Amino acid sequence: MRIYKAKDYQDMSRKAANILSAQVIMKPNCVLGLATGSTPIGVYKQLIEWYRKGDLDFSEVKSVNLDEYKGLPKDHDQSYYYFMYTNFFKDINIDMANTNIPNGMEMDSEKECERYNHVIEKVGGIDMQLLGLGHNGHIGFNEPGEVFEKMTHCVNLTESTIEANKRFFASADDVPRQAYTMGIKTIMQAKKILLVVSGVDKAQILRDSLFGAVTSNVPASILQMHNDVTVVADEAALSLI
Ligand code: GLP
Repeated sequence: MRIYKAKDYQDMSRKAANILSAQVIMKPNCVLGLATGSTPIGVYKQLIEWYRKGDLDFSEVKSVNLDEYKGLPKDHDQSYYYFMYTNFFKDINIDMANTNIPNGMEMDSEKECERYNHVIEKVGGIDMQLLGLGHNGHIGFNEPGEVFEKMTHCVNLTESTIEANKRFFASADDVPRQAYTMGIKTIMQAKKILLVVSGVDKAQILRDSLFGAVTSNVPASILQMHNDVTVVADEAALSLI
């Protein structure tokens, strides 16, 4: 595991964008695993800037996103489809047909999870998976629990996640209670993993994730078992390490 210390959020975003750019340059038809949340927004902004300068080409890139709220349509401003489109896809030359996100409007969980597992299989696996870190150690929407769920599954969001994400909704009551998420096995099968973390409020969970016990109670701790993980975090997030 490599840990890069960034000065601040902007520096973290730039360093992480450099790593993703290298992936796209070295393998123009790569499969990127993409993430939502506030942390990767700066990474996407930086990639858009370099794309506009002519340094990056996403025309052959395929993407698979980690997760989606169950029950939100694509055009809901808090759906992850909407997030990816407005924060990244609309400003680069990726072919939307090559982008994949779980379908939040499929109410049959079993059907949707099976479909999404096939999607990931069909794109041939993930070359580089970008990850953020939840305050409770979740990755994607793999919440702390008794087991590491392997494949795409439907999760009941924990109170702490609903609490953390309510800032984006009118009220906590509006936050969906369930989500579809890629499983831990699929994330761990990505060839490379890039974890971005910012802010002092993530310092303890980052330390637990990287140096604590490997346990499903801290889902991100499983990353200790992956052989190609790069962590880019700012000084505040690394303050306890
Ligand atoms: C969300 C997402 C995660 C994300 C996490 C942290 O719930 N499902 O993929 O990493 O929360 O979000 P943020 O970066 O806003 O702290």
